[in-house]
Amino acid sequence: MTRSPGLLCLSYFLIAAAAITVVSCSDADYYDQDLQDHEWDVLIFTQQWPVTACFHWIEENHKHSCSLPNKKEFWTIHGIWPTKYGTVGPSFCNKSAEFDMKQIEPIEDALKEFWPSVEADFAIQHLWEHEWLKHGTCAASLVELDNERRYFEQGLNWRDKYLVSNMLGAAGIHPDSSNTVIALQNALKKTLEKNPSIHCVYDHETQTSYLAEIRICFNKTLGLIDCDGVPGSHIAIDYPGGKVITNCHISKPVQYPSVVPPIPPKSWKFPFVNLYKLLNFVMWFTL
Ligand SMILES: *[C@@H]1O[C@H](CO)[C@@H](O)[C@H](O)[C@H]1NC(C)=O
Ligand SMILES: *[C@@H]1O[C@H](CO)[C@@H](O)[C@H](O)[C@H]1NC(C)=O
Repeated sequence: MTRSPGLLCLSYFLIAAAAITVVSCSDADYYDQDLQDHEWDVLIFTQQWPVTACFHWIEENHKHSCSLPNKKEFWTIHGIWPTKYGTVGPSFCNKSAEFDMKQIEPIEDALKEFWPSVEADFAIQHLWEHEWLKHGTCAASLVELDNERRYFEQGLNWRDKYLVSNMLGAAGIHPDSSNTVIALQNALKKTLEKNPSIHCVYDHETQTSYLAEIRICFNKTLGLIDCDGVPGSHIAIDYPGGKVITNCHISKPVQYPSVVPPIPPKSWKFPFVNLYKLLNFVMWFTL
């Protein structure tokens, strides 16, 4: 098989881009800055793949445990995050706001199903409280989202309309597959007609990217728009025929697992390396 110079060049570019991604791939929460300025430009609506979310949660601390949906191929909501171009946040826009469970009681069953907490170590309300106080209080500058009920209902409506499993499924992409990020992008764009942002969790041990989240963006009149220019760990990569906004490894397929992948045994490796160094040192010292 021969490759055209253009393709070769593209591959080098993608490898370089992937290298940048590795450096910037840390999954820290990018919304923690307490901006004085509560202005924002876009709403990022994030659906998560619970299997990968669980992997990430346990990988972070092996004592963590997850609660996964019983249904197969079931994407859940992570949040609606107001975001300013070129920066992150804002967050916690109303210091006097308190989370009031009563306001969302009428939709509690739906939230339990579609906006659950994968992180079983917290009470279910913990995620909702966090999302409302951190992001909802900023989104509340829009009249359509100016109370808990409206904010969470908007999430349920958007999930209904833009369900990731439907969009991927329409392109024949189901769990237990691996797909290039460009294939994922093309599948999603067929429905959305706008650029989403595709988020991976990266396992350094096996150098594998797992599909974690699909984020889509809305403007202040709640119209779907391209996620271009949205900050965080994502970079926009041009490829022939389009642009993909992602933190996933570009040069390798992205895994879409149906069960939680094996958790890398990080607590094992460290003493082993130390022991090896110690042995080396002792040998150098004594021989
Ligand atoms: C902040 O939250 C309080 C308590 O819920 C509310 O009364 C007030 O109107 C909110 N302020 C803004 C600017 O939204
Ligand atoms: C929001 O996006 C929609 C397209 O999805 C567009 O029709 C509308 O004009 C945009 N609104 C603003 C305020 O930019």
